Amino acid sequence: MTAAPSASQRVIIFDTTLRDGEQSPGAAMNLEEKLRIALVLEEMGVDVMEAGFPIASKGDFEAVHAIAKAVKTSSVCGLARANPADIERAAEALKPAPLKRIHTFISTSPLHMKHKLQMEPEKVLQAAIDSVTLARKLCDDVEWSAEDGSRTEHDFLCRCVEAAIKAGARTINIPDTVGYTTPQEYAKLFKMIVNRVPNIDKAILSTHCHNDLGLAVANSLAGVLGGARQIECTINGLGERAGNAALEEVVMALRVRRDVMPFTTGIKSEAITKASHLVSTVTGFVVQPNKAIVGANAFAHESGIHQDGMIKNRETYEIMTPQSVGIAKTSLKLGKLSGRNAFRSKLVELGYDLGDNALTDAFNRFKDLADRKKEVFDEDIMALVDDEVARANDHIRFLGFEVQAGSKGPQRAMLELSIDGASVTATSTGNGPVDAIFNAISQLVPHEATLQLYQVNAVTAGTDAQAEVTVRLEEKGRTVNGQGADPDTLVASCRAYIHALNKLAVKRLKELPPEVAVLSGV
Ligand code: KIV
Ligand code: ZN
Repeated sequence: MTAAPSASQRVIIFDTTLRDGEQSPGAAMNLEEKLRIALVLEEMGVDVMEAGFPIASKGDFEAVHAIAKAVKTSSVCGLARANPADIERAAEALKPAPLKRIHTFISTSPLHMKHKLQMEPEKVLQAAIDSVTLARKLCDDVEWSAEDGSRTEHDFLCRCVEAAIKAGARTINIPDTVGYTTPQEYAKLFKMIVNRVPNIDKAILSTHCHNDLGLAVANSLAGVLGGARQIECTINGLGERAGNAALEEVVMALRVRRDVMPFTTGIKSEAITKASHLVSTVTGFVVQPNKAIVGANAFAHESGIHQDGMIKNRETYEIMTPQSVGIAKTSLKLGKLSGRNAFRSKLVELGYDLGDNALTDAFNRFKDLADRKKEVFDEDIMALVDDEVARANDHIRFLGFEVQAGSKGPQRAMLELSIDGASVTATSTGNGPVDAIFNAISQLVPHEATLQLYQVNAVTAGTDAQAEVTVRLEEKGRTVNGQGADPDTLVASCRAYIHALNKLAVKRLKELPPEVAVLSGV
């Protein structure tokens, strides 16, 4: 007899940054960006990565296909609704992957079945059976999700789960699609399924929690206590609305509190900081400073009492070490006299592996930074490299500008950009230097987008710190975030705006076909 799914102590980490995370307004990524993140997720040891939704667009299909080709040790997963076209497209995109999974889903709650699907429950049950049966013909590993599972009637949920397992699903996911459940309720739901579904020992139960009430991580952990052995999550908690359960939080909670949650994951937690930086830079979603595990202040001790305690014994105020999440204690200090080899070694220490061209570009920017800044911290180098890497495929590039600013005005910017390799220039005035620069960009790259957010953060302390600027643009319902880093706030602002425009261009090409628009709520 097979052991009950809850007998194993190993929790499978299913990352959906590239699928559910990308559904976050403004988080669209291009193929190279997704590939870069996929390789970092693989290195981090995620068991399964949901690489996208292949039927959604040509871009999504190509990204899943490229990830399926490149990733060797994590299973690559593609999402599909309960219909043959979606499932066949997912199977096609996943073909090159050594380890693969098709994830098919349908809504099971009364509200979704009646209003969204306009289908009777029996038809939904049959669609679940048919979709899993077809998916199993094309792929050995099939996951089935009961969308809006946490608001589904228990009898019907149990019938669907039993039928999906009978049709061949190996993983059963019970999403809290709208972030409505609570830890006690969610744990009870899993216990109920374990107790009532006769063939439950043939499948792994999975959590998938959205964060609308700020409970996604707590709910995911409660789900595991209730019998789930897979957690679906995203880096930095990226995702629709308030986001998904944050990978770094569930992993570190399981690691730090093994005494009350005796479970393990396969995640190399030292890769967390690098993954967080990369996802933040690529998507333009800045991590809030007080965010658990990956926020800039997560390991900062400011008050005298705390600092005093830390000096006497680190454990007085620190429940995990910064090193355990990849914040390296600098062993190698870099300055303006450091050469290319030292720079390369530092990148290796920080977990980066750049090709020769990217290394040269990053090194040139580092030299420039070291000339202008007294101390170059690891955070500076990470911001600089992430910024460089994020721009690798941009068709609009920043070359330089001169700005006339000052209290008397008018503020004026003379800007030079490269567009598809050709240098172009424009001069513009504005209400302040940032406005003048943005107006000059608009002259060179005419567009209809409006500025929704302009935000400046300092990467480190000190007046010579690099500025990290986020710009959010919106054009006809498409939202994108761009980021730029530089010691000069105006340069960082210009880079961020250009980054956002490059992303907008990608997004225009990658519009979802109308029949998929209905899925924007998943
Ligand atoms: O939130 C949700 O229900 C989903 C499903 C597609 C798993 O993302
Ligand atoms: Zn979701």
